[in-house]
Amino acid sequence: MNSTFDLFSTKEKIASAYSPDKKAVIVEGDCLSTLKDIPSNTFKLIITSPPYNIGKVYEKSVKLEKYLTSIEPVLDELARVLSRSGSLCWQVGNYVEKGEVFPLDVFYYKMFKERGMKMRNRVIWHFNHGLHASNRFSGRYETLLWFTKSNHYTFNLDSIRVPSKYPGKRHFKGEKYGQPSGNPLGKNPSDIWNIVIRDWETSLWNIPNVKSNHPEKTIHLCQFPIELVERCVLALTKEDDWVLDPFSGVGSSLLAALKNGRRAFGCEWEKKYVALAHERINSLWEGRLRYRPLGKPIHQPTGKEKVSQTPLEWTQERWKS
Ligand SMILES: C[S@@+](CC[C@H](N)C(=O)[O-])C[C@H]1O[C@@H](n2cnc3c(N)ncnc32)[C@H](O)[C@@H]1O
Repeated sequence: MNSTFDLFSTKEKIASAYSPDKKAVIVEGDCLSTLKDIPSNTFKLIITSPPYNIGKVYEKSVKLEKYLTSIEPVLDELARVLSRSGSLCWQVGNYVEKGEVFPLDVFYYKMFKERGMKMRNRVIWHFNHGLHASNRFSGRYETLLWFTKSNHYTFNLDSIRVPSKYPGKRHFKGEKYGQPSGNPLGKNPSDIWNIVIRDWETSLWNIPNVKSNHPEKTIHLCQFPIELVERCVLALTKEDDWVLDPFSGVGSSLLAALKNGRRAFGCEWEKKYVALAHERINSLWEGRLRYRPLGKPIHQPTGKEKVSQTPLEWTQERWKS
C-alpha cells in the first residue's frame, strides 16, 4: 500500500478526542488529564521533548526537585498507555542552576527504570551551533533516551539505514572471502545523531536542527526537526500504529507519524501551538508542507563562502605582531 498517497486522499479532520478509528488527534489542555482518558497499552511509540524547566516562554522555571516530582504522574500515565511491545523516546538537555549543570537524562533514566522500562539506546544528538560558554565548554549535544516496555519490540533497521562510507569493502578472509562485507541498503545509523542548524555546518548524523533558515521553522522555540522523529517512527512502529507526543507543541512528531502512514496523537496546552499544529497537518495532507526530507545530504562549505573565511582584520593583526 502506498501510505503517502492514501494519506493525501484522506483529508480527514483532526479530532480533539481519542477514538480508535481516527488518524490524527490533538487535545488542547494539560496532558495529564488527557492521558487519564486513554485506554492502557494504546501507543506503539511515545516520543517527546518534555518541558526542560529552563524558563522558556511556555514554562515556569522551578527547583529541579519540584520539576521532577511534578512530572512523575505524567510518567505513570505514559507507562500505562504505552503498548506492551512499545517504545518511548525521551529527548532532553541540561538543567542549569547557578552555573551548575544537571543532566536531565540521568534523572529520567532512574524514573523510567522505576516504571519497569528497559533502555535500548542513549542517543547523543549532536549539533554544531548554540550559545558560546565562557566558564565551561560550550554545550553541543542533547540526548534521546530510547526505552521499551518489554523485551518484545519493533526495530526495523532496514528502513533507517544510511549510506555506508566504504560500500566497496570486502571480506578479506574466510568463506565469504572477496564478497562485499557491508549491507546493500547501507549501515546502521549508530547512536550519535548530528543535528546542525544550517546546512553548511558539518554533521555526524546529518539531521539539521530547526532554526531560522530551516524550511520547518515556526514560532515555537524548541521545535523537533521532523526528520529526527521520522527516524524513530520508521524504526520503532509499523503502518497504522499510534504515535503519541504528550508535549506536542507545533506538532512535529505528529507530522513525522502521519507522513509515514501512522496515526498521531498530541497533547498541548498552548492554544497558539495547537492551531499551528492543525495548520501544519492540513498542509501535509494538502501536499504543501515544507520540510527537510529524511536523509537529505548536508551542504558542505567549499571555503569560498564569506562565513568560512578568516576575517581580513585578523590576518592583518597577525602581520603587525
Ligand atoms: C519542548 S516543547 C515541545 C515542542 C515540540 N517537540 C515541537 O516540535 O513543537 C514542550 C511543549 O509542551 C507544552 N507543555 C508543557 N507542559 C504541558 C502540559 N502539562 N500539558 C500539555 N502541554 C504542555 C509546552 O507548551 C510546549 O509547547
